Amino acid sequence: MNAYVNPLAGGDAVFAPSPIVDFIRSRDFDRPTLVLHRDTVARQYRALKSGLGRADIHYAVKANPAREIIEVLVAEGSRFDAASRGEIELCLSLGAHPEHISFGNTVKRASDIAFAHQAGITLFAADSEMELEKIALHAPGAQVYIRLLVGATGADWPLSRKFGCAPERAVGLMDHAVALGLDPVGLSFHVGSQTRRAEMWRETLDQVSAVWAGACAAGHALTLINIGGGFPAFYGEEIEAPQVYAAQVMAMVEPRFPGALRIMAEPGRGMVAEAGMIAAEVLLVSRKSDEDLCRWVYLDIGRFSGLAETEGEAIRYQFLTERAHEGTGPCILAGPSCDSADVLYEKRPVALPVGLQAGDRIIIRNCGAYTSSYSSVGFNGFPPLDVVVI
Ligand SMILES: Cc1ncc(COP(=O)(O)O)c(C=O)c1O
Repeated sequence: MNAYVNPLAGGDAVFAPSPIVDFIRSRDFDRPTLVLHRDTVARQYRALKSGLGRADIHYAVKANPAREIIEVLVAEGSRFDAASRGEIELCLSLGAHPEHISFGNTVKRASDIAFAHQAGITLFAADSEMELEKIALHAPGAQVYIRLLVGATGADWPLSRKFGCAPERAVGLMDHAVALGLDPVGLSFHVGSQTRRAEMWRETLDQVSAVWAGACAAGHALTLINIGGGFPAFYGEEIEAPQVYAAQVMAMVEPRFPGALRIMAEPGRGMVAEAGMIAAEVLLVSRKSDEDLCRWVYLDIGRFSGLAETEGEAIRYQFLTERAHEGTGPCILAGPSCDSADVLYEKRPVALPVGLQAGDRIIIRNCGAYTSSYSSVGFNGFPPLDVVVI
């Protein structure tokens, strides 16, 4: 077998039975299209909920804001984590209660805070003095939770650095919140997106638990721990089933946060990634030289039209073709735009059938999260990713 061939990272030419695959195979598409399956979203919600037990699920709308997904989740009883006024309006318009929406972005526009407050939203995230001051001014008396910076955990898509305050700043921020007339109810963190095993949460939970204990000792009677997202999707590497994973996380959370009357979890990827597949097309297969070991395969979808999470080859999607009967060879995969950054996988090429041709259909598996919401409006004149919900 060629050293580059990694059947887990791509090149799986067999169509697994799936209503999404059946739908895609029965239709033609003029452009790359994300097909989402409502029932899979409902199934993931129920699995996560059964593992999370008493924790409230606030679906991270940014993962996929399709109206049909929000509708399914409202019907299932989910709550929502919104990053902007637009996401709040979307959830409200589809029947979510304002008390069930948290405004989790730590960098909010002042007018969005005022809008959220007027709409009845009472729970806001912050990680700095200035953000608390904006909240106090535009949502007086609101409940706030302080987001903590946590160390890298080995997640495939780390979220460290940009959000959260250093642990030693948390109590000072809570004191500041009290002085501003706000109600600092708890803490939040994000363990990193696509944290493949529940056990990888342990160290982070220990760090956050120490801050919790320190804040309680300093006189803040905390009642809310928001454990964020991180729940993984299947991209070819083994992961635990959602209810098992969530139950393991909860078993680690419960003893570490005494007094936490309320636990929140904000799954995004784990809720919707496996509910979607993209129908794409091969535009070109070429070799740069006669000696090239790898073919270059150009798809009609790329970094700017939905596959942004291939940045650093962090998220490795799986590809299905109709050529199950053929052998495979290593391919560098690229998108269609005239931008040299629009290369999806090069460091670790993807195994694809040797006979792959322009015009072949390619199905990209488990990409319901962070694809349509990441696709540009019209870079290079390519339209944003089309979405169909079945
Ligand atoms: C505040 C917050 N909560 C939840 C999520 C969802 O994370 P995941 O998709 O890993 O579940 C994100 C992702 O960026 C986030 O920023």
